[in-house]
Amino acid sequence: MEKCEVEGTLDKTIRPGAVHGTVRMPGDKSISHRALMLGALAEGTSRARNVADSADCRATRRIVQMLGARVRDIAPGELEIEGPGLANLTEPADVLDAANSGTTTRLMAGILASRPFYSVISGDASLRARPMARVVEPLTRMGAAITGREGGRLLPLTIMGGSLRAIDYRLPVASAQVKSAVLLAGLGAAGTTRVREPAPSRDHTERMLRYLGAPVRDVEGAVEVDGGATLRPFSLDVPGDISSAAFFLAAGLLAPESAITIPGVGANTTRTGALDALRAMDGDVTETEKESSGPEPVATLTARSSQLRGTEIGGALIPRLLDELPLLALLATQAHGQTVVRDAAELRVKESDRIATTAGELRRLGADITETPDGFIVQGPTPLRGARCQSHSDHRIAMMLAVAGLIAEGETVIEGAECVEVSFPGFFDVLQSVVSSLVFANKGAIGRALVG
Ligand code: S3P
Repeated sequence: MEKCEVEGTLDKTIRPGAVHGTVRMPGDKSISHRALMLGALAEGTSRARNVADSADCRATRRIVQMLGARVRDIAPGELEIEGPGLANLTEPADVLDAANSGTTTRLMAGILASRPFYSVISGDASLRARPMARVVEPLTRMGAAITGREGGRLLPLTIMGGSLRAIDYRLPVASAQVKSAVLLAGLGAAGTTRVREPAPSRDHTERMLRYLGAPVRDVEGAVEVDGGATLRPFSLDVPGDISSAAFFLAAGLLAPESAITIPGVGANTTRTGALDALRAMDGDVTETEKESSGPEPVATLTARSSQLRGTEIGGALIPRLLDELPLLALLATQAHGQTVVRDAAELRVKESDRIATTAGELRRLGADITETPDGFIVQGPTPLRGARCQSHSDHRIAMMLAVAGLIAEGETVIEGAECVEVSFPGFFDVLQSVVSSLVFANKGAIGRALVG
């Protein structure tokens, strides 16, 4: 099995500092995955700019190449994808390695489900512990033969695709990955596939499928796709990643006398829940220069130091800010009053159990945060003190702790900081570029190894 792993560990030491300036974010991770996959499913040559070169997206790139797509670097972040088309994907000669990426695994499972060949998909230890029944169940109902460890609950998954039939599927929890897997399988199924969610999750797949000419419709609270359509090649500018931007907005809000501006960020309302929550907390966050970039809206985001107050986050807001919840917990530690997050049990099955890791690491820094089964309760404000913390190999926990280090007294050490590569290579350099007095220190080595 071809492997690409981040080797070695990196400790990062962070000291307090204010943030100022304008920064650009890497391309949105969710949209970059979809650009690579749909570029392979379209027949012909597509171009995508500002594609994230993160470990997760590199996993998707390797996999689509193993299925017959040709991907060429034209310039930094700019890729040309020669797609064989869905019907012409070829059986991979080896196990598909999704590394740490849940999006790669679940969306690819949807694509592979309709292909009449054998494939196996696996990933790193974290991914091999994450739930897969949520995609195996609907894809099996559509007619794919899928097996995996623990009765198909865990990777590796073996997929023998075939002639699928359309289904009308009601998702038990809002999940863009599951919705996308069913829609992508629906593209290769006979009939019209319909998906309903308890609350709207990110809709990048639907937008992009429409952009490529696929018959995708919103009908009475469901999204549906007709099977058999061909996708046309495309040209796309991937917007800056709002989930990465959130760390810089949080730094701008929390650090004293700070202001930060981030142009060209994806402003799709299925992703901007954190902006709504920050405003509810009295955070000074603005969205200007709104425009559209192909299928997605973009905007310039600005955040300035603010006195925050506690808030309640739950219900339909959760899928719109799911990946930002560890960061919102940090913000809540500096807010006056109580912040309650509920309905977020999904956090327990992310790259780490983010309810436990967020609460545990913030407590090391002196926060008053209590875990609940589906969220947390934070009392604020509490002064944070630097401490030795752990990333738990979870990129979003590492970056949240880096922002915490900007406001914690003394030094904050993040063990295992190399995992930021998963979504944001260069994160620490970009942060350093906007921090006035900050000095980073590194310990440990980091390298990437390709083992044939
Ligand atoms: C993603 C969907 C979300 C999100 C993940 C990316 C996507 O996961 O947390 O980071 O690109 O579709 P779920 O579908 O599990 O909610």
